[in-house]
Amino acid sequence: MQENQEKFIELVNKENVGKNLKYSILTMGCQLNENDSEKIAGMLEKMQYQYIEDYKEADLIVFNTCCVRENAEERLFGKIGEVKKLKESKNVILAIGGCMMQEPGMLEKIKKSYPFVNVIFGTHTMQNLPENIYKAIIENKKVKDVIDIDGEIYEGLPIKRNSDYKASVTIMYGCNNFCSYCIVPYVRGRERSREPELILEEVRGLAEEGYKEITLLGQNVNSYKGNDKIKNFAELLNEVCKVEGIERVNFISPHPKDFTDDVIDVIANNEKITRIVHLPLQAGNTKVLKEMNRKYTKEQYLTLAKKMLERIPGLVLSTDIIVGFPGETDEEFEDTLDVVREINFEQIFMFIYSKREGTVAAEREDQVPEEVKHVRFDKLKELYESRVDENNEKYLNTVQKLLIEGKSKNNENMLEGRTSTNKVVIFEPHSEKKPGDIVSVKILEAHKWYLKGEIIND
Ligand code: SAH
Ligand code: SF4
Ligand code: F3S
Repeated sequence: MQENQEKFIELVNKENVGKNLKYSILTMGCQLNENDSEKIAGMLEKMQYQYIEDYKEADLIVFNTCCVRENAEERLFGKIGEVKKLKESKNVILAIGGCMMQEPGMLEKIKKSYPFVNVIFGTHTMQNLPENIYKAIIENKKVKDVIDIDGEIYEGLPIKRNSDYKASVTIMYGCNNFCSYCIVPYVRGRERSREPELILEEVRGLAEEGYKEITLLGQNVNSYKGNDKIKNFAELLNEVCKVEGIERVNFISPHPKDFTDDVIDVIANNEKITRIVHLPLQAGNTKVLKEMNRKYTKEQYLTLAKKMLERIPGLVLSTDIIVGFPGETDEEFEDTLDVVREINFEQIFMFIYSKREGTVAAEREDQVPEEVKHVRFDKLKELYESRVDENNEKYLNTVQKLLIEGKSKNNENMLEGRTSTNKVVIFEPHSEKKPGDIVSVKILEAHKWYLKGEIIND
């Protein structure tokens, strides 16, 4: 944390003391965005704000935005409208930050249509929040703090984590890949990696606090660059696994082009690393992949996926797929279905191509009609869902190690946890086992979106 920000924390603190003020954060984006929100929460709590879930009850509201797909904008504007109504009856501070604020023209758009917004900040200026809140509440200013740079890394921001057992640790920021459909490199800047020692220090600290599961985060997590001692992603991953007390290690999102053999070996040799790896496919056709600037062919993807499944016992894969990329023909889309048939993905995150201004693909004239995109989406979904039952049934009668995460979301009387392959399992509570414990559970029933089991003694 920078010293001058500490000073603003003090000043806001003095102003807020005894007022019992509440804050709420709405996070709209990916896990990196979520991790940023945890840091925003950390800073706000240092300034005497207390968390409240319902933002209608809050004195300070933060929207942490995403712009990876188009519909996010409408959602944000709808939410801003709701806060406008709130502002008519009470004094609410509204701060909007995150990726969407880095989009060209967005600042002006908000300034013009929603002049009542108190603070706007970008992905490179989140660490100035104390100063910006100070200016908004004490100097009554409208603050706009967005810069377009590659960004520095700010270490040591306070953090208020969402879970007591699972923690995300961002290891690198930005992205250099410029996939032709994607806006992320424009709004997050170039790749920069944190010092490995600082990452390990954070992980050790988390282990001491009782955290059991660590997710290493980066837009292109396996292009992480370390230093002379811990050189690359494989070495960092290996070191993280050595931290005592950490039982599970996970990472998201790797890029297939950087998935080197040393990473595969580290996963194969470390049981702590989850047995689900996210390997974004995006499309199954080599021509489309080339136009997407993904830097691998259909065959290279298949070879990599099969190699991983072969070398890492018990591994399953999850993936991201975009349908309806400009120029994609029905025939080319069939190649995507082909890969899905061949690699039995455990989870698929499916997206309809969304035109993002400023990206190369958005300029193309051969955009795929909306109806065609929807037909392809439904086809892919149907294929994926036709595999779900079969994929779930293979868990029947197996014993799975789970991290107990708490009460089941759909059934108060049951506990819930996830397997190393990220399957949700519900089971009856056990007198000696509590959330945060790792338990062995025998799977007895397979349902579409969850499994049911019972705790067994090891
Ligand atoms: N860096 C990560 C994820 C980035 S965004 C990665 O490369 O895997 C998450 C997913 O959103 C992407 O994997 C992609 O499938 C999807 N996505 C990105 N831009 C998109 C767009 N313009 N339209 C539709 N989906 C998109
Ligand atoms: Fe976007 Fe590609 Fe970077 Fe992922 S790797 S963030 S899809 S540009
Ligand atoms: Fe969205 Fe930004 Fe993440 S655009 S997907 S919140 S990096």
